[in-house]
Amino acid sequence: MLPKINPSKTLAWQKLKDHFLKNKNVHLNDLFQADDSRFEKLSFEIEDFLFDFSKNIANEETFKLLIELAKECKLEDAIDALFHGKHINETEERAVLHTALRSFSNESFIVDGKEINCIVKNEREKLKSFCELVHTKKWKGYSGKNINYIVNIGIGGSDLGSSMVTEALRPYQIESIKPYFISNVDGSNLSEVLKKIELEETLFIVASKTFTTQETMTNAYSIRELFLESCKDEALLKNHFIAVTGNKEKAMEFGIQEENIFKIWDWVCGRFSLWGSMGLPIALTIGYQNYEELLKGANSIDLHFKSEKFEKNIPVIMGLLSIWYINFYNAQSEAILAYDHYLSKFKSYLQQGSMESNGKSIDRNGDPVSYQTGVVVWGETGTNGQHSFHQLLHQGTPLIPCDFIVSVQSQNHFNDHQDEVLSNALAQTEALMKGRTKAEVLEKNLNSDKIDINYKVFSGNKPSNSILIKKLTPYNLGSLLAVYEHKIFVKGIIWNIFSFDQWGVELGKELSSHKLSSIRSKSQSTHSDSSTNGLIGKILEWRS
Ligand code: F6P
Repeated sequence: MLPKINPSKTLAWQKLKDHFLKNKNVHLNDLFQADDSRFEKLSFEIEDFLFDFSKNIANEETFKLLIELAKECKLEDAIDALFHGKHINETEERAVLHTALRSFSNESFIVDGKEINCIVKNEREKLKSFCELVHTKKWKGYSGKNINYIVNIGIGGSDLGSSMVTEALRPYQIESIKPYFISNVDGSNLSEVLKKIELEETLFIVASKTFTTQETMTNAYSIRELFLESCKDEALLKNHFIAVTGNKEKAMEFGIQEENIFKIWDWVCGRFSLWGSMGLPIALTIGYQNYEELLKGANSIDLHFKSEKFEKNIPVIMGLLSIWYINFYNAQSEAILAYDHYLSKFKSYLQQGSMESNGKSIDRNGDPVSYQTGVVVWGETGTNGQHSFHQLLHQGTPLIPCDFIVSVQSQNHFNDHQDEVLSNALAQTEALMKGRTKAEVLEKNLNSDKIDINYKVFSGNKPSNSILIKKLTPYNLGSLLAVYEHKIFVKGIIWNIFSFDQWGVELGKELSSHKLSSIRSKSQSTHSDSSTNGLIGKILEWRS
């Protein structure tokens, strides 16, 4: 059981409110001027990472009070409950132990009184052997050809993790394997992928924890049909269809052989599932050893998260700073600005991780919350974002805390490009923080008399975290993902909500079945409101 403390009723919350009011006019520039060692005090080097939190509108007192808040909300107990397999996903009556999937130590993980280490290890071995069969070309397509394409058919947590990681680790990809992902039920996704592959050389991974998700089933069955049109024999499906699921029966009904079904357990939440068999497309694409490195990098952050004191605990600090801005500065969104082109899908992955986890308004006591919880996560890779939305970050009205994630060593030989990537990232964080005063505009002669000087002024005082990564290796990527996973956890605990369910996606799924029958049967709906009925009417007219 998790603690059920309303954060807004804690003493620390009240103190933070007073502290905010007292300090709300303090500028980041003042904080730097007041303390020469601010960077040294607020930056942390861990393995190949440097986390710099010094460009946050927070002083020693702020950090002290935020940590008091974490303690009053019993974050320590919650971390303990997480790693000890307690049923912290209470609304689905499940434990949450994706961390067990990336542990290589002898530490035992228990779920419902049973040790799970052995089943985790066996599944990992199965994944490894399977990768070996494909990579050594012993696994053949039905016509005797090698497997050169893998297509993951899955959505949400059964897609975003593996597609983001395979993209992020593109430089580590095995040359002969080309990965593709079909998630959207829109047939355009399917047809575009089909243009790029040869069915006889493709392994389809049907990735669905439930094996009932509409989008995945529709895509999988369409491909199955196409496949049978080409090979004409159901028995041959076994060379081409693999499943990752918790619903073995449904996968077998589809025609997948039992030995080709990889497991996901109910104690693994979909959006945190890439660490187990849902990571099969990753392992097939970058090789098993690299995949294991990814897990090990995440595991090193797990160890840090559960053992480091809060003052130096990276996910805890990141979670608390996020709460500081959301609940006291009223920030409505956070920008993820990755200065590494390979991290282009990172923000989409985090959107599910963060918004599906913490987009909740009922607390752990079953009461409506009286404070803001989830936040919009968005972003773009640097430097592209600079030429689109950074204007809003610099001179807009909302306060948007930013994470600058910067890979220092490039994966290519265009080193002069990398110099520019790095200098741009640094310049952005500095500009956001410092701003530019009227006096500076005048001094640098940046304005003509005809234009109001205010247009050239930047208020600054815009907070950011800088995360320097030496190089985006599989190990370091694993660490980065685990940092964000635990940040999400910290926030959910303090907000007193359940972060591991997703009941909010159900209503839309339910309502879509009525619409589907109207659209399929071409009959005007009378079930819904006049707007929805009217829209269906127009759709039927335009499709006839
Ligand atoms: O619709 C939300 C969701 O349940 C996600 O949480 C999950 O990752 C996704 O759908 C896919 O579910 P499944 O793996 O069961 O197909």
